[in-house]
Amino acid sequence: MTLTEAFFTVHCDLPREGPGLPEDVLWTLDVAETPQHARICDAACGPGADTLTLAEARPEARIDAVDLHQPFLDQAEVRCKGHRARFEQRDYTDLTGDYDLIWCAGAAYFKGFETVLDAWRNRLLPGGCVAFSEPAWVSEPPSPEAQAFWRAEGHLEGLPALSKRLGEAGWHVLGQRWLIGAPWAAYYTPMQARLDVLRASEPNETLAAAVDEAQREIDAWRAAPDQIAYSLFVVRPA
Ligand SMILES: C[S@@+](CC[C@H](N)C(=O)[O-])C[C@H]1O[C@@H](n2cnc3c(N)ncnc32)[C@H](O)[C@@H]1O
Repeated sequence: MTLTEAFFTVHCDLPREGPGLPEDVLWTLDVAETPQHARICDAACGPGADTLTLAEARPEARIDAVDLHQPFLDQAEVRCKGHRARFEQRDYTDLTGDYDLIWCAGAAYFKGFETVLDAWRNRLLPGGCVAFSEPAWVSEPPSPEAQAFWRAEGHLEGLPALSKRLGEAGWHVLGQRWLIGAPWAAYYTPMQARLDVLRASEPNETLAAAVDEAQREIDAWRAAPDQIAYSLFVVRPA
């Protein structure tokens, strides 16, 4: 078993692959004033938790969901059966459609949000918006627990610096919302259950290491759940 296989054995059959709740999606649809017949993209949809919320909240909309990892797309497709959602294995900076809303939970920072927003600027229909969640310091200076949790991500910023960068990149912030506590529990509670099952299955060394790494992440979050946050932004070209 390779390290990648071990990682995806841990991250398999989870309801979602990052922090978030349906109410965060519903808040975004309100702030962005996304029309009923909208064209929506779930960029980096993972196993489709938010795709389903989008489809249920906007049953007349056309939803395209993209991700690089085909097993997530398969899981999402099963979950959204009967809804107007299409799934495609595609890099999220290489979209082909035009959208009223591009939703991106927990993935814009992989490439840097300026790069990703740049790629999406010309994929927005008139009045269209992007919503994305970004790791952020809740308070500054950040607590030692928050620094420990985010160590692997390198440099993080607080809300003023992130908002300034968005403005400099030519984006107007329509709304901002913190994802703290419950949205993270929605991600980590099922993952903890999966880790417990995998540990009981006498995993090989590679898988045991992946389980331990995921456990360290959950434990680091548990050490300061009120200090670990994503900031959800709804933005529109300025
Ligand atoms: C933290 S997960 C979030 C998934 C989902 N949005 C959610 O909240 O459950 C990040 C996702 O980004 C996908 N991903 C990473 N790089 C990508 C890229 N360049 N294009 C499309 N998807 C990508 C991964 O496969 C993974 O599903």
